[in-house]
Amino acid sequence: SQQRLLIKGGRVVNDDASTLADVYIEDGIIKQLGLNLVVPNGTKTIDATGKLVMPGGIDTHTHFELPFMGTRSVDDFLTGTQAAVAGGTTTILDFVIPSKEQSLLEAYVQWRERADAKVCCDYGLHAAITTWNEQVAKDMEVLTKEKGINSFKVFMAYKGVFMLQDDEIFQVFAKCRELGGIAMVHAENGSVITELEKEMAQLGITGPEGHLLSRPEQLEAEATNRAITIAEQTRCPLYVVHVMSKTAADKVTAARLKGQVVFGEPIAASLGTDGSQYFNRCWRHAAAHVMSPPLRDDAATGPYLMDLLANGSLSATGTDHCTFNANQKALGKDDFRKIPNGVNGVEDRLAVIWTKGVETGKLDANQFVAVTSANAARIFNIYPRKGRIAVGSDGDCIIWDREAKKTISASTHHQACDFNIFEGMECRGLPVVTVVAGKVVYENGQLNTVQGSGKYLETTCFAEYVYQKLYKREELRDQHYKERKIEREPYTGEVVDIT
Ligand code: URP
Ligand code: ZN
Ligand code: ZN
Ligand code: ZN
Repeated sequence: SQQRLLIKGGRVVNDDASTLADVYIEDGIIKQLGLNLVVPNGTKTIDATGKLVMPGGIDTHTHFELPFMGTRSVDDFLTGTQAAVAGGTTTILDFVIPSKEQSLLEAYVQWRERADAKVCCDYGLHAAITTWNEQVAKDMEVLTKEKGINSFKVFMAYKGVFMLQDDEIFQVFAKCRELGGIAMVHAENGSVITELEKEMAQLGITGPEGHLLSRPEQLEAEATNRAITIAEQTRCPLYVVHVMSKTAADKVTAARLKGQVVFGEPIAASLGTDGSQYFNRCWRHAAAHVMSPPLRDDAATGPYLMDLLANGSLSATGTDHCTFNANQKALGKDDFRKIPNGVNGVEDRLAVIWTKGVETGKLDANQFVAVTSANAARIFNIYPRKGRIAVGSDGDCIIWDREAKKTISASTHHQACDFNIFEGMECRGLPVVTVVAGKVVYENGQLNTVQGSGKYLETTCFAEYVYQKLYKREELRDQHYKERKIEREPYTGEVVDIT
């Protein structure tokens, strides 16, 4: 076969161990791992001496070419996945979000059409549940059993568009549990936000800072706690997307300490920048940071979220990559409520996390692999195919140079968007080579991707890793009841009806 690659001399880093080893990939799969490998003549060889060889990043959360707020996000499945691999991410998980006129299944078909033609790396899909009825429940079943989707996101915000009520959320979570899937939540109190937005308008606050002021942190923490509570009542595992604040993260931590199966996902934006940007004197600059939940005007938030990633309270990282150019953001130039919500991140996530996490001494290289790749692979049921350098795993890996440096800038990034929220950030530690399915797709700053070459990943119908945890928890609960068995005597007296 023509597709043979040997990565020689590097230190292979997985989430649980590191070892000096060569990696031999053939036909897209890692076939050998170790020293002094015997490989066929003519195999392309890359020297990784002094560098780290890690599983490619998994971005748990993207929105490529998403129709949203009267426009469509500019990074599509081509530029989005090109930027991903340029930054060391080799798998992305995007969200099927049906429009008002579309069924969930129709939206799924549309997402597959858009993505399959363009993706340069493998991808999987989550699905958003934006209305609740019998048909949606049936579609969830089809997506799970036939289409390889088992993670479903509900919105507690975007009132009148995507937002569900608590009883509907309960139903979705119960269905997820029945299907062996995992529920995901956008946790913000959308009803109160809408009221606060009106207050801002009355006060004459129309600029991007109004976005922050109408979405206080308490509303994220409250909704996070409410979602966790509903998940507990339905005994459904829960994944909280885009954790943007300290107090919301605390709710996730507290639930995990009690043994509930809850995962939290900070994103590159919440780890790498902050909400002081909403007060920037340049409208475009401030509007570029508008996303929901908002970045917090508290420089301590990013480091705090990084600490929780380091101690395992938060689990995986994504980006919520959903980019809009200046002319699109300008839809809200007179009213912050109309600024399309979304920021970049797919290209810079790994460099940002290495710089803010490993360079600061909070994470070691193994933890870096855990929070950028392995944990996501486990939660979303693609492990060890993805998220691990091992014989039999997909040949998706990166060569990481701890000494390499760059300054992030929109003028040099591979994303289609005209702004980068990490502009000017100096990163130390970068992927210098990205390998997708055994093919070098990024090297020496050059992309060599093939449009449409990525494959759709079925995350299969039963979320094994997640349910292992859930069942363990249930066993403990049953044991608890058994030990505290109450022999209650039946009531034998008189029953008095006072009505
Ligand atoms: O502002 C955001 N987050 N835009 C993308 C949609 C979502 O809520 O994830
Ligand atoms: Zn969201
Ligand atoms: Zn500016
Ligand atoms: Zn999102």
